[in-house]
Amino acid sequence: MDLTPADTGRLAALFRHFANVECPEEPLYEALCRIVADDPALLGLLSGASPEQQRPNLWLAAVHDSLLSGVTHPLAAYYPSCGGDRAPDAALASCVREFAAQHAAALRELMRTRSTQTNEIGRCAVLWPALHALAARSGRAELALLDVGTSAGLNLGVDVYRYDAADARPGVPLLSCEWQGERRAPTTPTPKLVQRLGLDPAPVTVDDERAVRWLRACLWPSDTARATRFEQAVQMARARRWPVRREADCTAAVEPWVASLPSGVRPVIFNSWVLTYFERPALQRHIETVTELVRRTGAMWLSAESSALRVGPVELPPPRPDLPKAHSVWTLCHRVGGELRFEALARSHAHGRWAEWVGA
Ligand SMILES: C[S@@+](CC[C@H](N)C(=O)[O-])C[C@H]1O[C@@H](n2cnc3c(N)ncnc32)[C@H](O)[C@@H]1O
Repeated sequence: MDLTPADTGRLAALFRHFANVECPEEPLYEALCRIVADDPALLGLLSGASPEQQRPNLWLAAVHDSLLSGVTHPLAAYYPSCGGDRAPDAALASCVREFAAQHAAALRELMRTRSTQTNEIGRCAVLWPALHALAARSGRAELALLDVGTSAGLNLGVDVYRYDAADARPGVPLLSCEWQGERRAPTTPTPKLVQRLGLDPAPVTVDDERAVRWLRACLWPSDTARATRFEQAVQMARARRWPVRREADCTAAVEPWVASLPSGVRPVIFNSWVLTYFERPALQRHIETVTELVRRTGAMWLSAESSALRVGPVELPPPRPDLPKAHSVWTLCHRVGGELRFEALARSHAHGRWAEWVGA
């Protein structure tokens, strides 16, 4: 099935937006997105993907995955993750066109069957302080964490990763983050995760090498620190066996999970870069289901999504002009004196490179 001219135009605009706003730190992806935006044949590779998945991330991951599989092609020279060190140049456009023509069937199949599942533990650099804030607001250190849209469940290790370079535990990912501004999350009490669970309609099994390669392909090829922490997190997940469950309807599974918890434990329902993949009615249903649950049970809902997607009414100070426009907003929905309250806790880089605490 081919793209309509309208689809081609919409996708071209998405690739240009991605180049301009989303990947300023990845020159290869910036250059590739501009090339793809101007080439209907390259855009057309996405035609078999579902509408929610027709995005630059999926296109880029499919090409990266093919290169990581070990195929030999001059395009690999542009990918540091494949041992390359060539900067984007005038030859890149013809090189990627030739690669795409040679591997068109395989790339189409990847884009038709795979989805953007990037499991980014860099987000834990904000999740961990946010959990401190939740423990402080609820007056309880004992939390239970439900990670909705967990991918491989790597963010379930939030309480064991390193956040300080002085912590020298070998093999444990170090998540450093440049904190901006004056405000910081409370540092006490230290949250105690007495239960954790990840849900996903298509969870990634860390023992499945092919599935892990796809996650690796979802990372950006020049960010070696990101690649290192990903590999360490996969090793830890293989040893620790964080509980991850396949759930066709994650929204419906939230309430039974809350009901299953022992008393005295505060349920925290969490999602990061997940709701952006929901169709509009599913998004509405998820927001209504979870907010109603918060109202009835006192569970807390922490949502980290693109700043373009708001889960409730929050007041945010104006963005600092020196920080990139594309970022995540961390929103807490909780019950205060019987009333539902939405609060913005932080803004951050999508992978946790920088963050700004905006919570009270
Ligand atoms: C970009 S990944 C984010 C993974 C993880 N939350 C993180 O921050 O690293 C998006 C995840 O959302 C999952 N997902 C997509 N649609 C979903 C749905 N309707 N309900 C729950 N999860 C969904 C995907 O399978 C994928 O694992």
